[in-house]
Amino acid sequence: MAAVAAANVGDAVAYGADELTRRALDGIRAASGAAAALLVFNGTAANVLGISLLLRPYEGVVCADSSHLNTDECGAAERVLGCKLLPVPAADGKLTPEAVATRLAGRGDEHHVQARVVQLAQLTEVGTCYSLAELKAIREYCREHDLLVYLDGARIANAAAHLGCTLADLAACADILSFGGTKNGALGVEAVLVMTEDLAAPAAYLRKQQMQLSSKMRFLAAQMDALLTDDLWLRNARHANAMAARLATGVAGVPGVRLAYPADGNGVFAELSADRARALQADWTFHVWSAGGDGRCVVRWMTAFDTTAADVDALVAAVAAAS
Ligand SMILES: Cc1ncc(COP(=O)(O)O)c(C=O)c1O
Repeated sequence: MAAVAAANVGDAVAYGADELTRRALDGIRAASGAAAALLVFNGTAANVLGISLLLRPYEGVVCADSSHLNTDECGAAERVLGCKLLPVPAADGKLTPEAVATRLAGRGDEHHVQARVVQLAQLTEVGTCYSLAELKAIREYCREHDLLVYLDGARIANAAAHLGCTLADLAACADILSFGGTKNGALGVEAVLVMTEDLAAPAAYLRKQQMQLSSKMRFLAAQMDALLTDDLWLRNARHANAMAARLATGVAGVPGVRLAYPADGNGVFAELSADRARALQADWTFHVWSAGGDGRCVVRWMTAFDTTAADVDALVAAVAAAS
């Protein structure tokens, strides 16, 4: 907010031709190794723009069935790009080369949508993190099979914090990726990072068509610039991850509660009784992620840059007290 307020002093050239935008884009390119970077308003738009740069009209996107792209974007890719998603079951939210292979059968047959893009999310939708080895294996498989990789990085900062790697290490595993700001303390900004010049050529035109070119770009850039300064993006993510780890350890010690997935980043997915979840929802706001027919359910608890240890301990105590 301070960075946005500071950007509100004096005049600036519109549509991103200003000094602050130049600095933010230089910073994100330097950190990621991307050939081009474009700022957009939110994560759904970043996914639509990123995928639109990789896809022809008859091509499809292989993705995890649980991916945000498939489950939580109201069909944005299908509606806006007119493309077919090719979801596959993914244990722990992760794709594997073997899973991708199951959607390649119709390639070369004009009656079938042609699988062309593999979409990964890092973190995944269930809060798990691909190792660099897992990402590289998918990347390699895609190279061998003429597939392009789009990486949804709405929570990529949490992944970098978890793996102890650089943004460039992760970006090297994709052709195009998003770099999330909104889920990491920003007011609302994401960057689309295009790793090669040839893929970047139409990006500015498609961003405008997709209504993501801000005339007041400096306010998006101010947020990105602030996140990049002194690695705030990484420090925010490390803190959120540490709070999630504290929460995961705390609730895993409560009888009747079990972690549904490893808490690699800033999300804790816990399985507990539906009665206990309902009782907790009287005082705490959270999603029931999935409900089983056995009176049990999985809930999703997220931590952020501003979550405190006291917040976490209060939730753990509430979980222990509820029944
Ligand atoms: C992995 C992932 N991708 C994309 C998005 C979409 O972001 P937005 O809600 O800003 O459109 C989200 C939002 O939760 C997300 O978690």
